[in-house]
Amino acid sequence: MSKVVIANDHGAVEISQRIITHLEKYGYEVNHLGVSSEDSVDYPDMAAKACGEYLSGGYEFGIVCCGTGIGISISANKINGIRCALPQNSFAARMAKQHNNANFIAFGGRIDYQDDVLDMLDAFIDESFEGGRHERRVEKIMSLEGGVC
Ligand code: RB5
Repeated sequence: MSKVVIANDHGAVEISQRIITHLEKYGYEVNHLGVSSEDSVDYPDMAAKACGEYLSGGYEFGIVCCGTGIGISISANKINGIRCALPQNSFAARMAKQHNNANFIAFGGRIDYQDDVLDMLDAFIDESFEGGRHERRVEKIMSLEGGVC
């Protein structure tokens, strides 16, 4: 069974629950590291939890959610080995896998998306990394880790 790890802050409780229900319906084992209440938590802490768990191995991909998806995706992308996409729509979600080989996807619980979040998630899941010239570019992304310009 494919495994997914997800964590969210108080700004994305409802959308995270929708995502979990959706993934479980399609047979994923979902490890939800919180939170399930609207008591305030700090999104970098939630990103660190999800990414740390993902990097321990065995996961197909990870999901992080906050009010906008911005703070938690920025946080996730600070962690070595993580490529977290914050798609605007289903097209971008597909490209995040096809071109960027993203291993995390972020969503905002307070954003009015043009496409439903579950459709964006499915677009991401159903796509594969294309490799070829994108392999070189992804390697270049990863070589920027910890770098200074
Ligand atoms: C929390 O109020 C909010 O700042 C957070 O969920 C997120 O939107 C940050 O980027």
